[in-house]
Amino acid sequence: MAMHGMRKKASPSPSPSPAAAVVMALVLSSAVAAVCGQPQPAGKQTAANNPRLQRAYVALQALKRAITEDPKNLTRGWCGPDVCAYFGVFCAPAPDDPHALTVAGLDLNHGDLAGTFPEELGLLSDLALLHLNSNRFAGGLPESLPKLHLLHELDVSNNRLSGGFPQHILCLPNVKYVDLRFNNMCGPVPPAIFDKPLDALFLNDNHFDFELPENLGNSPASVVVLANLRLRGCIPQSVGRMAGTLNELVILNAGLRSCIPQEVGWLRELTVLDLSFNQLQGHLRAAQPPQLHLLVQLLLHGAAALPRHPPHRRPPELHRRPPRPAPRRPVPRLPPPPAAALRRARLLRPAALLGGQLLDRARRVGGRGRETAGAARPRRRGRDL
Ligand SMILES: *[C@@H]1O[C@H](CO)[C@@H](O)[C@H](O)[C@H]1NC(C)=O
Repeated sequence: MAMHGMRKKASPSPSPSPAAAVVMALVLSSAVAAVCGQPQPAGKQTAANNPRLQRAYVALQALKRAITEDPKNLTRGWCGPDVCAYFGVFCAPAPDDPHALTVAGLDLNHGDLAGTFPEELGLLSDLALLHLNSNRFAGGLPESLPKLHLLHELDVSNNRLSGGFPQHILCLPNVKYVDLRFNNMCGPVPPAIFDKPLDALFLNDNHFDFELPENLGNSPASVVVLANLRLRGCIPQSVGRMAGTLNELVILNAGLRSCIPQEVGWLRELTVLDLSFNQLQGHLRAAQPPQLHLLVQLLLHGAAALPRHPPHRRPPELHRRPPRPAPRRPVPRLPPPPAAALRRARLLRPAALLGGQLLDRARRVGGRGRETAGAARPRRRGRDL
């Protein structure tokens, strides 16, 4: 409407310069874009004028104080109220208020940061992605973790976390990706983790010590990695319930002494099955007819022997640190994840919650070759666990 009016006004008289009309049209079209496009909040949103960012400010400053070493100076610029401009902090419109920016992602992967997690992290209550892999965080996850009720991806792999399994993960209602691998956590893993609607679960290379529970097969995860743990018991027959969803099952060098249930043969979506270096007995009896159509890697080396540290396991010091400095760019290019995992990730991911940019960065659920927003996975030679 306004555009029409303007054109009528400008065109009848040839005397006003055409350039003026162009300028007017440009001004007008940008005004229209502002009205029709994304909501344009008046002024910049910071901790000074947005209560969500104020809470995030308190959380991030507490984290900065709890970081004892920051050799790459990643958090040096974490000053002042503009938390959305902090390195590693990603803001997006809040899911419950598109006009309000909130902190939706925190990515300090490969930061080589030493420290602990402060309770104030619970103030980041709109966080969807928490990627802190390949740092030197010690201790446990904060008790306030369940306040992150939108958390979708939790990646604290390749740190120095200790203590028991972080039970609070069970209270995260929306978590889909749980990556605890390469830490020093110990003790049992609660069976309830397999009742959560996760898409990927990495517990490998910790000191967890538990019996594979009967409800393992309740997990809808596409990737389950339990390698280099101290497991007992059998692979439960319930694994057959994962027939339509499980793509990768890696229970390498985990002290299993059972036979392989024939239900493993039902896993028609399986592409990787690695049960090497366990004391498994008997045969891998495929169902009749065998349904392992997609299986591309079947590894059962050393099934009778049980070296605690098979030769291909990397010594810990080699995967403790990233082999090269983490890139400073906030959004590294990601290798494409396996198609199946990507498809599932798209289905599972609350797109509205993440916003476009974060969504792109978030497409790594599942397989090997995945790199979290900033190389989630400890980079190692050979098989990635
Ligand atoms: C971090 O800051 C310190 C002190 O200014 C400086 O000596 C050091 O070189 C910086 N490190 C990096 C990786 O920029």
